[in-house]
Amino acid sequence: MANYTLRINGEKHEVDVDPATPMLWVLRDSLNMVGTKFGCGIAQCGACTIHLGENATRSCQLPVSAVGDQEITTIEGLSEHGDHPVQQAWLEVDVPQCGYCQAGQIMSASALLKKNPNPTDADIDQAMNGNICRCGTYVRIKQAIKTAAETAQNA
Ligand code: FES
Ligand code: FES
Repeated sequence: MANYTLRINGEKHEVDVDPATPMLWVLRDSLNMVGTKFGCGIAQCGACTIHLGENATRSCQLPVSAVGDQEITTIEGLSEHGDHPVQQAWLEVDVPQCGYCQAGQIMSASALLKKNPNPTDADIDQAMNGNICRCGTYVRIKQAIKTAAETAQNA
């Protein structure tokens, strides 16, 4: 076991865990931040996506020992009141079906738009390619990303 001070959603959190513990389980089990979901555990589905710095990152394959002082953002910290432009667009387009994959989808989409505020269809396909949705909400996800991009540009 080892002690880590993590910067998550603008606050410091101390945890005492095995260095190999994936951030997914630190978030969910140690810190009770359960918005980040477990899907596959092998970096293949995107359900566990968080931001490490500004990069969309699979928390199921990110050992806590690799985080250091990099800022982590989870779905709980993306915006104060759930009103990030991506979240608003998700509501407007009514994207989710069962909802299980959607935190990961939103974290991937928001990381994309931060780096590329006006993505092409190909950019969206590339950035969202690894985020699986068993309910098949892909068309609405793409539409919502475009809506969020337009909203941000007209703001
Ligand atoms: S649970 Fe991390 S990518 Fe599937
Ligand atoms: S909304 Fe059900 S898995 Fe994506």
